[in-house]
Amino acid sequence: MRYLSAKDIHSFFSMRNAIDADAEALSLYSSGRADIPLRTNINIPEYNGQSLYMPGYVSGSAPALGVKIVSVYPDNINQKLPSVPATMITLDAQTGIVNAILDGTYLTQLRTGAVQGAATELLANENSKLALLIGTGGQGMAQLEAMLTVRSLDKVYISDLDMNRAQKFCETATHKFSKLFSTQFEPVSNPNAIVPEVDIITSVTTSKRPTFDGTLVKKGVHVNGVGAYTPEMCEIPVTLLKQADHIVFDTLDGVMAEAGDIIQSLKQGAISKQDISGELGQVINHKISGRTSDAEITFFKTVGTAALDAIVADRIVKKAEKENIGIEL
Ligand SMILES: NC(=O)c1ccc[n+]([C@@H]2O[C@H](COP(=O)([O-])OP(=O)(O)OC[C@H]3O[C@@H](n4cnc5c(N)ncnc54)[C@H](O)[C@@H]3O)[C@@H](O)[C@H]2O)c1
Repeated sequence: MRYLSAKDIHSFFSMRNAIDADAEALSLYSSGRADIPLRTNINIPEYNGQSLYMPGYVSGSAPALGVKIVSVYPDNINQKLPSVPATMITLDAQTGIVNAILDGTYLTQLRTGAVQGAATELLANENSKLALLIGTGGQGMAQLEAMLTVRSLDKVYISDLDMNRAQKFCETATHKFSKLFSTQFEPVSNPNAIVPEVDIITSVTTSKRPTFDGTLVKKGVHVNGVGAYTPEMCEIPVTLLKQADHIVFDTLDGVMAEAGDIIQSLKQGAISKQDISGELGQVINHKISGRTSDAEITFFKTVGTAALDAIVADRIVKKAEKENIGIEL
């Protein structure tokens, strides 16, 4: 069995690798090759905790089997421990034997950034030069890296309710990416001031209200909604969804059950089920079309699926075995 820390994974598995793995995972998911049981939640009231178990199996020429365990223990912070510890366990699909334990927090950041990267690569205009990232929390940096990986961007505007965080995020991004990409990063306090200019918008927040004005977007924009994962949450404006020529999800079942952006818009009658194109995996499998002209507006929504965790983790483990990275137990 192998143990892989966040640092180990970062050292040999790139965002490019993760985007390819996510695209493969969604392609297999949309072909009916994934078995994703409902998440199991266990309450631990004595310690104000909750433990969530997300198993998944994806079949195919390189099958992937695993379970991600994410626990929510708000009081851990008093002991200087992570309040949302996360671990991924992978198993050899042929024998059922556990073959690796991975840092689940980093895996989530990587696969969530990468799924947006896969969507942006397929749906955004090729010559996109300006982008806007809204939300600079735990997921923000991987979201930025994914956009930089799939498009040659001149500038990414960075916005957050907390401007200090946005400012610091830009400094970190410059430090992290200046040798790899020639992109500039600029904090903006009012995202709507630059929404009319940008080719790509990614929102990754915990917001319950839209994070930008959808009436201001330019023709041809591609928008990613990554944050909202409960019916009460909503970061994408209805006005954007109404204009979108293609509305694409990571998984139809997941988004329709969880994403407030979509659930609320359907409830209000602002969009109908017929306006939803389908899954990104179907675009990858050429079952539905993606962007067909520069002027079309495209929208991608992700709530995540254990299929992404299983495939990305499996590909990390296979590569680690080849390159002998991590600790062998
Ligand atoms: N789609 C997926 O697979 C997936 C995976 C992981 C996390 N998520 C979700 O993504 C969201 C962000 O995760 P995180 O770990 O970065 O959260 P976080 O709490 O670390 O950061 C959220 C950031 O959003 C900012 N924010 C909130 N409302 C805003 C608004 N109206 N305008 C601008 N900024 C605003 C906050 O100031 C904060 O900086 C969460 O809702 C999380 O559950 C989705």
